[in-house]
Amino acid sequence: MTRHFLRDDDITPAEQAEILDLAVHLKADRWSEKPLAGPQTVAVIFDKSSTRTRVSFAVGIADLGGSPLIISTASSQLGGKETPADTARVLERQVAAIVWRTYAQSGLEEMAEGTRVPVVNALSDEFHPCQLLADLLTIREHKGELAGRTLAFFGDGRSNMGQSYALACAMAGMHVRIASPADYAPRADVIADAQAIADTTGGSVSVTTDIHEAAAGADVVVTDTWVSMGKEEEKQARLDSFGSYKVTTELMAEAASDAIFIHCLPADRGYEVDAAVIDGPQSVIWDEAENRLHAQKALLVWLLARAAA
Ligand code: CP
Ligand code: NVA
Repeated sequence: MTRHFLRDDDITPAEQAEILDLAVHLKADRWSEKPLAGPQTVAVIFDKSSTRTRVSFAVGIADLGGSPLIISTASSQLGGKETPADTARVLERQVAAIVWRTYAQSGLEEMAEGTRVPVVNALSDEFHPCQLLADLLTIREHKGELAGRTLAFFGDGRSNMGQSYALACAMAGMHVRIASPADYAPRADVIADAQAIADTTGGSVSVTTDIHEAAAGADVVVTDTWVSMGKEEEKQARLDSFGSYKVTTELMAEAASDAIFIHCLPADRGYEVDAAVIDGPQSVIWDEAENRLHAQKALLVWLLARAAA
């Protein structure tokens, strides 16, 4: 049966490790896998802006021998004019996979339902699982084995990044701490799912409003924009709520002395993170951005091998 990747936990912990191993292989030997030779086409659809996701999927699909078809929703019939299900019925006859950046997770679920080619979430309001594969690859490169490592996220816990960290890090057997204002804690069902996964992997999940509790001894410090795409009208309320969750040099000093800093980007220096941190010696953001390419190629190779004939 065709597998889709709409949430971090659409794969098992063992499958996550398998995809990360494949990403390491593809990073070392970039043109070694050609599952899209033909070239076959992969549709990459954007309802929201993107630099990294657009480039890394376009380059990665070409690396795999395929042809990327980048579609802007505004210039297509998606986005109110045609349903995700009908769009999928059209695309699956012609493309090898569908990658979609959108708003509601429910649209992705509708796109994937009964679709015979893999559907990949390239960011929704709720999850950003491709980013997490890249982040885990980056942490592995800099810190070695993921299991047992502690990751502390500061900011909007209910965002796609906050929720994906909870799920994906629990899957990797990590200890994940989400520090957010109470009104921006991750959804309870997502935390329950992450906790259930952590119980099987030896990881743990905690949610707190206390930045010091989250930072203490952490191996990885993470933040993300306080104003995610689609939340622009809430900007002032968010700036007011998140002010004390900024990752500063002082907060970094509370983490492990060899902690790394990551950020999915784009970043607002001076808001969620001080320039001295994101541009400082502990930051590995450029490796992280590059790893989108390798991680997503691995994901596509893995999904294409499991797609219905
Ligand atoms: N991190 C990330 O997804 O970046 P883009 O919005 O530029 O794709
Ligand atoms: N949380 C951010 C991530 C951007 C890659 C957003 O959704 O805008």
